[in-house]
Amino acid sequence: MAHTTDTHMFDSHLTIIEGAIADALAKAHLPPELAEPIAYTLDGGGKRLRPLLTVLAAEACGASPHRAAPLAAAIEILHNFTLVHDDIMDRSPLRRGKPTVYVRWDESTAILAGDTMMGIAYRLLSEHYDAETCRQLVAEFSAAFIEICIGQAEDIAFRYRPSVAMSDYTEMIARKTARLFATATASGAIVAGASDRTSQALRRFGHGLGMAFQIQDDVLDLFGEPQFGKQRGQDLREGKKTFIVLSLADRCSSARALLERYMHGEPIASDADIERIATLCRQCGVLEEAQTTIDSYLDDAIAAIRRELPPSPARDLLVAAAEKNRTRTL
Ligand code: IPE
Ligand code: IPE
Ligand code: MG
Ligand code: MG
Ligand code: MG
Repeated sequence: MAHTTDTHMFDSHLTIIEGAIADALAKAHLPPELAEPIAYTLDGGGKRLRPLLTVLAAEACGASPHRAAPLAAAIEILHNFTLVHDDIMDRSPLRRGKPTVYVRWDESTAILAGDTMMGIAYRLLSEHYDAETCRQLVAEFSAAFIEICIGQAEDIAFRYRPSVAMSDYTEMIARKTARLFATATASGAIVAGASDRTSQALRRFGHGLGMAFQIQDDVLDLFGEPQFGKQRGQDLREGKKTFIVLSLADRCSSARALLERYMHGEPIASDADIERIATLCRQCGVLEEAQTTIDSYLDDAIAAIRRELPPSPARDLLVAAAEKNRTRTL
């Protein structure tokens, strides 16, 4: 089918999502101190991947995308809340090619803008769904929210823990990143009133896509082009235990000296050392290992929905969204 290769294949769903986000912001009637940083974040060029998954998941379970739209907006707003606070914690100067909220304004503004976004997200759930659906959505949302915070706490704690293994990293990114993807798809199934089997398959799809997404994010931190929009090598400057670093430590004996102090929490500070790490990653097959791991998570994700969901245009679009993430550059 021609439409499956069309780069605009998600446009009608994205329009519905934009409308729901704009409505939610307009209804909040915020003073400029909050409205401005929140609009800066939510209109700042995010890819809208998670809300797209929500709307498509609901549609693949037989619901109209409009029914899922307020939920999808809530998911995107929750995601943006995590970014605004994440940038404070990670001391990141740039996101989507622009100064981060705490740099452009200040930390208090970024903290409050994030808190306000959480309120707006919960209000969307309470105002648009019947009591039982709302109860299920709030349960799913709250569990995801707590899980993300645990993952973020691990991400920070890992810096000073020299013994972090790839399996620890896998659990950490499942919490900080993949859980929101899984909630995005599983909550789409909830608003569609899908069976447990179907929601489980969609949850598994979201999980696999989210895992692949974070590994690629770690790769792009070091190997992304300027349009990726974040400061190159920021993870290394913050002493993060990313896929790159753990894989390099495992497979590359010539990187051991360079990584020795890093593993105990000392960041890589110089541009020259960041380039050295990048070169060693290329020489020692780190990028290939990342790609193989990404592909296997994506294969598992796609297989889960092909197995359990009946064929439909929305299922095809979910598969297409996953496929796009094999070689993501943004
Ligand atoms: C960034 O997510 C945070 C991670 C989990 C790596 P996205 O790359 O989806 O952020 P935007 O919203 O599209 O900018
Ligand atoms: C993303 O981790 C996790 C959350 C925002 C919850 P990162 O710290 O790698 O995300 P970016 O690279 O800053 O977008
Ligand atoms: Mg972070
Ligand atoms: Mg970050
Ligand atoms: Mg990152």
